[in-house]
Amino acid sequence: MKILVLNGPNLNLLGEREPGIYGSDTLSSICQTISQEAQELGAECIFFQSNHEGALIDKLHELRHDVDGILLNAGAYTHYSYALRDAIAGVRLPCVELHLSNVHAREEFRHQSVLAPVCIGVVCGFGADSYSLALTGLVRHIAKKQAK
Ligand code: DQA
Repeated sequence: MKILVLNGPNLNLLGEREPGIYGSDTLSSICQTISQEAQELGAECIFFQSNHEGALIDKLHELRHDVDGILLNAGAYTHYSYALRDAIAGVRLPCVELHLSNVHAREEFRHQSVLAPVCIGVVCGFGADSYSLALTGLVRHIAKKQAK
């Protein structure tokens, strides 16, 4: 089972970016942790981060036949990128939206997600653990589908 882990804008700065909100873990340490956890669940992760909407969409297109599902922290694109939403709907792969912070407890513009309606689920508010929880949910979803 292969999982594409997509991270959007500003997530490359995790560790130094607003640590009171996003914690002190770097993106590479989060990726290391979930890579290990994925292995324990019998899955393999492919990681990609970009600050550019089109690059995220290109990666989705490129790997659409090579992966079984997507973990997506789209950063601020979550709240307004119809292009990313259409890409997720278009590739027809199960996708979990995730956020480190509890977006619903923050500014109003973060309460809306244009991606959630085309995702199988959303995890937010658990810091770096949001990645692990989202991974477990996605792997279980794919395994159930494959068993049918
Ligand atoms: C975020 C929440 C978004 O609102 C914000 O724009 C981010 C990070 C999170 O992981 O909590 O860049 O996706």
